[in-house]
Formats: sequence, C-alpha cells, structure tokens
Amino acid sequence: MGKFTQDELNEINNTLNTPEECLQWAFDNLHPKLAKASSFGAEDAVIIDMMFKINSESRLFTLDTGRLPQETYNTMDEIRKRYNTKIEILFPEAKEVEEMVNAKGINLFYDSVENRELCCAIRKVHPMNKMLKTLDGWITGLRKDQNQNRSDAKMLEVDELHDQIVKVNPLINWTYEQTWEYVKKNNCPYNKLLDEGYPSIGCEPCTRPIKIGEDIRAGRWWWENNSDKECGLHVDHNK
Ligand code: ADX
Ligand code: SF4
Repeated sequence: MGKFTQDELNEINNTLNTPEECLQWAFDNLHPKLAKASSFGAEDAVIIDMMFKINSESRLFTLDTGRLPQETYNTMDEIRKRYNTKIEILFPEAKEVEEMVNAKGINLFYDSVENRELCCAIRKVHPMNKMLKTLDGWITGLRKDQNQNRSDAKMLEVDELHDQIVKVNPLINWTYEQTWEYVKKNNCPYNKLLDEGYPSIGCEPCTRPIKIGEDIRAGRWWWENNSDKECGLHVDHNK
C-alpha cells in the first residue's frame, strides 16, 4: 500500500512551483526508497542534473531492453562519470525473451500491435514491475504535452499501476523547448540522437527520426496507426 493518498498529494502539488521543489519533496519523504527511471532522453538529462545537485546519493535505474541504440549506452557512461554515480541496470528475464523470440521471431514487433506490446511487456514492463515493488516512489521524465495519455498527469501522483507508490513527475508542466534549454545551459550529458532528429528515444528498431512539423512522438513505433503508442510503463496494457 502506498504512503500517501491522492488527496494528500494534491494538497502538496498545490504548494510545488518548480521541478526542483518537487524533487526536494520526494527526497525528504521517500528517499532512499526512491529512484529515477531513466531512458536517457532530454527530460531524463534535466532531472538527473537537478537530482544530483540536490542529493549526491540519488538513485538512478534503467531498463536495458537489449535493443537500445549505441548512443543511449554512450549516454549512460557519460552520466555515470559526470555525476560519479552507479546506474542500476535491469535486464529482462532471459527465459521470457528466449521463448518469445523463438516462438515469434526476433523482430516480432513489426508484425502486430499485440506482438509489439508483448515485446514491451517482457523487455520493459516486467523488469519495471519487479523494481517498483522495492520502492515507495519513482521519478519519471513525463511531460503533459508528450501525448494525450499524459495530458492529465500531475507532479505527484498515486501510481495505480504499481501498488499505489508515489509517481513523481517533476517536468510534467514543462515544454520540450524549456527542457532542451536547461540541457544546454547546464551542459548536461545528453543522448546525441537528440541532435539527429530524435526528440523521443526508445529501442533502436522502434524509433526513427522525425521530420520538421511532425509530432514529437511520431518516430516511436512509427508503423503503428491505431495504437496508443505506449509501452505499458505508464498505461495499462493488462500484461
Ligand atoms: S515510453 O513509455 O514511451 O517508452 P518515454 O520514452 O516517453 O516512455 O519516457 C518517459 C519516461 O518513462 C522516462 O523519462 C523514464 O522515466 C521512463 N522510461 C521509459 N523507458 C525507460 C527505460 N528503458 N528505463 C527506465 N525508464 C524508462
Ligand atoms: Fe521491444 Fe520495440 Fe518495445 Fe523495445 S520498444 S521493448 S524492441 S517492442
């Protein structure tokens, strides 16, 4: 059971004005059972920088799906060195991955939304669920304007998908431009794919650059037209 109700968190939300204030509240109330989930996108670069300025003992973890771009691994290394931190790297269950790719093919995600969601469930959602069972709160890089599913999200939320722990979304009200401006101003280590037309970065086979004028998440699972374009970390795909 979580430590806070949504009513309690709403009252606190009303008092928080900046991402740093949000992070400070999270450290004061949830550390050390608090960790930042990072896929090493622009938002994560900002939050990681803010976190380590507030608390040098900040915890950082990532889900290594086994299909990430090399640039993402390079970013992990840069971050590890810059902030003198370890990164908790979580892998999927080898047996689950083996059974899946042997039954459905190594590139199964291109064949159907069902296959794609299965791959995301095994490579991301299951390891995430296991990690979140050990925490009282997790920090994400969600922003409201990333997509419709996220437009109602708040800074502090009860996470209904994960045993009512606290979901901390410090950048929820920021735009992509504000995010990028912070990265540049603070010289944060960032994923070099961001310079190559990838404003949203996931697994290598499932992410392409976007063209000018395209939606910021248009490059994620770009071949899907009738899906919610979510991997299941933030919405329920019932897996
Ligand atoms: S996704 O659900 O579409 O993949 P997105 O790329 O927008 O998510 O990232 C939003 C937030 O989800 C990230 O800031 C991070 O907190 C979390 N997240 C996404 N992918 C991972 C991952 N591979 N490892 C850890 N956290 C992740
Ligand atoms: Fe699999 Fe693609 Fe999901 Fe990565 S983004 S877990 S490769 S379907």
